Amino acid sequence: MNSIPRKIMSAAIGGIGLAALLTFAGQETTLLIPNADAQGKKWKYFGSSTCGGGSCHAASKPEANRPANEYTTWSKKDNHAKAFNRLFEEASTEMCEELEIEDGSKDKRCTVCHSTDVPKDLQGDKYNNEDGVSCDGCHGPAEGWFKPHTKPHKYEDMLKLGMWDTRNIWRRTDVCVKCHLQIEPELVDAGHPDLSFEIFAHSRREPPHWYERQTWDGVRAWSVGQAVSLREALRKISKRIKGKKEFDTTVLAIYQAQSYTLVFKHGVAVFGGDAEKKAVKSLNAMFAAALDAEKIADGAAMAKACDAAADLMDKLGQKLAKSTDFDAAKVKAIYAALAADKALLDPDGIDEFVAEQAAGALYALYNSSKQGKGPRNNGDVETPGAIGKILVRPTVYKPEDLFDDEGTFKAGEWVKRYKAAGALVK
Ligand code: HEC
Ligand code: HEC
Ligand code: HEC
Repeated sequence: MNSIPRKIMSAAIGGIGLAALLTFAGQETTLLIPNADAQGKKWKYFGSSTCGGGSCHAASKPEANRPANEYTTWSKKDNHAKAFNRLFEEASTEMCEELEIEDGSKDKRCTVCHSTDVPKDLQGDKYNNEDGVSCDGCHGPAEGWFKPHTKPHKYEDMLKLGMWDTRNIWRRTDVCVKCHLQIEPELVDAGHPDLSFEIFAHSRREPPHWYERQTWDGVRAWSVGQAVSLREALRKISKRIKGKKEFDTTVLAIYQAQSYTLVFKHGVAVFGGDAEKKAVKSLNAMFAAALDAEKIADGAAMAKACDAAADLMDKLGQKLAKSTDFDAAKVKAIYAALAADKALLDPDGIDEFVAEQAAGALYALYNSSKQGKGPRNNGDVETPGAIGKILVRPTVYKPEDLFDDEGTFKAGEWVKRYKAAGALVK
């Protein structure tokens, strides 16, 4: 419980102990639930019970173009509805003890992610912290659009009334990563699962209470998700360097970013321009040098490179979210490049986080290759066992045979399976 679970980490900074890790301030809160929209207007958050009405979002039959049982799916199958209750479990009590938090359910260091945590003046009548991640935790505060959206309406008009544009996969990933990538080392050190995000696999697991509307859902979600997740990780590195954080804090952000650059470079090779390709290549070299030397040679240069690459990734994500430039040849090319990547096939070069991203990539691209332009996420593509066997996330898939008794990732075993999954799309 008291070492950072990055495999290469212990080799790199083995000498620096728990005390050093506990010296910096709490959870970053920059990207959590926004209090105001782009125009600076504040809207109140309504609780999930506002949305649970029978024929609205808890209907027994789907409508032509939407499941119509969104509330039922969320409340019965989606872990977000349980996120607040999680804070009363034994695992939370233990974590909180270690962090000297008296009550996790009342402490921002937990509630920023495990509930829809907004200030009192933004809480509507039915707002309820115990909802966990409620409907408006992902769709935006409902005050402005609640009444209009119950009558015939245009989606675009709702966006002007404070609804977040989750149909746009670039915006959607923004919503997810604010809780799914920002975990602080001190929490991980106290036993919290380290976070890693891949939007395609995450969305399938949620499970989705929606139909996808855009074509090439798998490759679009994967590539946009990678660009946005990488952007976040890069900004985190830069922020930590500029905030003069210790190397062992910054290094965790570097590992996180690297788990994207090592995998998404194959997407960038197909979808990126020269600037993006160059940026990812030089980031990979810079990260490797810093991890090797156990220090960052030129902090200002790395921060600058990360900021510039983050902006490029943001633009790439925006572009791909609206792109019509997806086709089977591109999907297969990326799949083949990932499957043949020597770094991903080297048990000594890979940790579980890189493995998780590589697995998510094959999963998303496999789905795209079978779906093509075709139907959405209605359970239409059956995922072969070989893909299932490479999915890593311990808290979700419980792939016990991929971790030894000490919880160390068995990279050699994973690589064998990755080879088998890599052969699925030709
Ligand atoms: C940055 C957002 C964030 C913060 C802050 C956060 N969590 Fe979590 N927590 C998550 C996410 C995301 C998951 C799901 C991760 C997964 O399944 O791998 C999770 C999972 C958990 C789990 C389930 C672990 C398991 O093994 O299934 C517990 C328990 C938990 N958190 C407790 C806490 C406590 C207690 C705090 C405060 C000390 C806290 N969390 C703060 C995002 C957060
Ligand atoms: C973890 C984030 C998250 C939470 C929580 C969440 N949603 Fe969603 N929801 C999404 C995403 C992502 C989509 C897909 C994009 C879209 O259609 O906006 C979506 C889509 C929808 C749709 C459109 C369905 C379609 O196919 O047209 C409805 C309606 C909806 N959600 C209602 C709800 C309700 C009601 C709740 C609460 C009970 C809820 N959502 C909670 C993320 C979330
Ligand atoms: C306000 C914070 C928040 C937002 C926004 C959010 N999540 Fe989560 N998510 C959590 C927390 C906390 C958990 C852990 C809940 C638990 O297991 O009790 C979680 C759990 C999950 C899980 C189950 C654990 C796993 O890894 O399988 C999935 C899947 C997931 N989230 C997907 C998404 C997706 C996709 C989005 C964006 C559309 C999203 N989340 C947005 C906080 C958030």
